[in-house]
Amino acid sequence: MKKIYEFTNRDIISIRGFTREEIDYILKVSRMMEPLAEKGSDMLRGKVLAELFFEPSTRTMLSFQTAMYKLGGNVIGFAEPGVSSVWKGESLADTVRVVENYSDVIVLRHPLEGAARLAAEYAKVPVINAGSGAEEHPTQALLDLYTILKYKGGIDGLSIILMGDLRYGRTVHSLAYALSLYDVDLHLVSPDLLRMRKEVIEDIKGYIKVTEHRDLMEVLPDADVLYVTRIQKERFPDLGEYEKVKGSYVIDLNVLKKARNDLIVLHPLPRVDEIAVEVDSTSFAKYFEQARNGVIVRMALLALVLGAIK
Ligand code: NCD
Repeated sequence: MKKIYEFTNRDIISIRGFTREEIDYILKVSRMMEPLAEKGSDMLRGKVLAELFFEPSTRTMLSFQTAMYKLGGNVIGFAEPGVSSVWKGESLADTVRVVENYSDVIVLRHPLEGAARLAAEYAKVPVINAGSGAEEHPTQALLDLYTILKYKGGIDGLSIILMGDLRYGRTVHSLAYALSLYDVDLHLVSPDLLRMRKEVIEDIKGYIKVTEHRDLMEVLPDADVLYVTRIQKERFPDLGEYEKVKGSYVIDLNVLKKARNDLIVLHPLPRVDEIAVEVDSTSFAKYFEQARNGVIVRMALLALVLGAIK
């Protein structure tokens, strides 16, 4: 039988490297992982995941670790380049060429755009991009899609709002590209300073309907999904610009009065002040479940790239 998908040894650098059929297949394998996340499996016994994190992380790093342990594998790596030879001046290319000798898959987070692609060019083992500057965060987009699918029963036909820092946020770039493969209405809501870059919008507009807004109320009443993001303070070239937009949007119970009862609110987390804590206990809030889904989807990705599931 002809194989339709080939994931074994595949690098996961950009969500744009995937077709809709491939993404749907990853989401299907993720669903298969739900019971294994409860009871564990030895599908990846003897396999080693290396995590190279050149930027802070809580969810992405720990959920990759949990995913690997749930499937019976092991994890090595560093979360602070100051403790590795990078601090002595070792290049990313050299680090990768050494670490591939110790591991079967590398997960990399780096402040520079293009870093994951460079690592993949040097590494013989598959490289998974866990965030490359403001550019992309493809595994986050997959877990975002999985969360939408889980709570909405499908992705086609939905009205989806991406709100917040659409300029420097990498999760919204990957998610917008991924959603452009589905039949959705996409609404981008942000202060002027944080609008999504023109070239990204142009790319997406070739596939789906996209509208831009300053005022959330123009689109909230009809929305199925509200995806909120943090202002990425660390990526502003000028902190004066950050001060101008800081605290400029907050989702609270008052705002949500205008929403449909079945709206779901997502956030890649960490949250600073964009979603009031009072929202956490409402049926709108799905961001902590979303973080849990990170383990499920990363289990699927590791099983696929390491060839345990074809
Ligand atoms: C995001 C990131 O690192 O881009 N975090 C995450 O992986 N869940 C979002 C953020 O830092 O705001």
